[in-house]
Amino acid sequence: MTAAKPAGSNKIATLTGPDGKVTQLPIIDGSVGPSVIDVRKLYNDTGYFTYDPGYTSTGSCESKITYIDGDQGILLHRGYAIDELAEKGDFLEVAYLILNGELPTADQKAGFVQNVTYHTMVHEQMTQFWRGFRRDAHPMAVMCGVVGAMAAFYHDSTDITDPRQREIASYRLIAKMPTIAAMAYKYSVGQPFMYPQNKLSYAENFLYMMFGIPCEDYKMSPVLGKAMDRIFILHADHEQNASTSTVRLAGSSGANPFACIAAGIASLWGPAHGGANEAVLEMLAEIGSKDKVGEAVKRAKNKDDNFRLMGFGHRVYKNFDPRAKIMQKTCHEVLGELGIKDPLLDVAMELEKVALQDDYFVQRKLYPNVDFYSGIILKAMGIPTSMFTAIFALARTVGWVAQWREMIEDPQQKIGRPRQLYTGAAKRTYVPVEKRR
Ligand code: CMC
Repeated sequence: MTAAKPAGSNKIATLTGPDGKVTQLPIIDGSVGPSVIDVRKLYNDTGYFTYDPGYTSTGSCESKITYIDGDQGILLHRGYAIDELAEKGDFLEVAYLILNGELPTADQKAGFVQNVTYHTMVHEQMTQFWRGFRRDAHPMAVMCGVVGAMAAFYHDSTDITDPRQREIASYRLIAKMPTIAAMAYKYSVGQPFMYPQNKLSYAENFLYMMFGIPCEDYKMSPVLGKAMDRIFILHADHEQNASTSTVRLAGSSGANPFACIAAGIASLWGPAHGGANEAVLEMLAEIGSKDKVGEAVKRAKNKDDNFRLMGFGHRVYKNFDPRAKIMQKTCHEVLGELGIKDPLLDVAMELEKVALQDDYFVQRKLYPNVDFYSGIILKAMGIPTSMFTAIFALARTVGWVAQWREMIEDPQQKIGRPRQLYTGAAKRTYVPVEKRR
């Protein structure tokens, strides 16, 4: 295939089929980053599908929200670099930006914060749901169930054709997610649910609902509040990853927003995606001590062993993960501030050192990703491992909601319906059971 530039600014790619038939495919330029070959008419024109099972070369939609350059280690939300947002902004400001396309003015920010703050309580009757779960249920299982069930409570924001209802559903999801996640934790330890406190920031409120108890005052550490806010910012959106694509695909059929976000939570749960920060801690526990790090690195390099270093590598970032750089700094700040001595954290620091110097990891550009450091910070904060992915989910809700809204508002939107390369049996005749061998 060749990319040529005919007269005018429109570029065309030509595809020559096995029968010599030449098909012209338009090339569409984005504002930055790779252009795409528009294959929408390919099947009609040639009878061929494209084949790309892991979507490594396939753009599934047009989006204005997040830009990633994996080779350069760049992550932009609406054009703003993640490092600048994490350094100078706060989570709700970044959420406003991701949702609305521009940084808010002071008045817009105050209005947005007020709206989110006043939607943080869940319907009181919803608290009954928790009783149906076992105390040892994984928080992500609880989140999938409860968020999906929000559609059963908030009927007045499930009409996706009404922009106002879409907006209210967005506020409800973003505001209630920390409450639901903290309730999942409280239920697992048998403590009473804590109502949100409107005087606290979004991140502080989450820590309060996690660690506060009704019988004494909760003393908020500003360092931990800031670190939590930063973790939220760094996980807010990440372009068309597995869970976001799941939200878009679920939403493309016209499903209500609560169902779509529940689908995103389910997808995020996997260890190759959001489950990685939990898997990092499990791996550190499996390694056990600093002196066993060399052995673990050796196993990760052995192709006959399916052990991988969790928290290393990324599908898109093949140089470094810009979020990991910020998380690494925050991680060292939090560990310093808390003066924590935990052998697992020593294992983590040793692993970081050894893997960053090892040829196998250097050559394959396998660097610690954001989940490596966020897992360590969350552990240092006293958050149980099983809550890590739930925290990722609550932060990513902003991105899911923004991407879902962008999709619904796109006039070209259609139901997502991938095709396949079929390699099963061709048509055959049914054989009655008594005649089968
Ligand atoms: N440990 C050891 N080897 C690895 C690792 C790892 N963590 N990751 C990749 N490799 C090797 C892999 O075996 C392959 O080697 P070779 O070329 O010799 O066959 C090479 O590196 C390329 O790997 P890949 O599997 O083709 O890369 P991918 O883009 O398909 O996978 C990944 C990306 C994130 C799934 C993978 O790196 C991984 O499993 N990492 C651990 C899980 C993890 O930390 N996931 C969180 C990702 S960040 C959070 C998010 O955005 O959701």
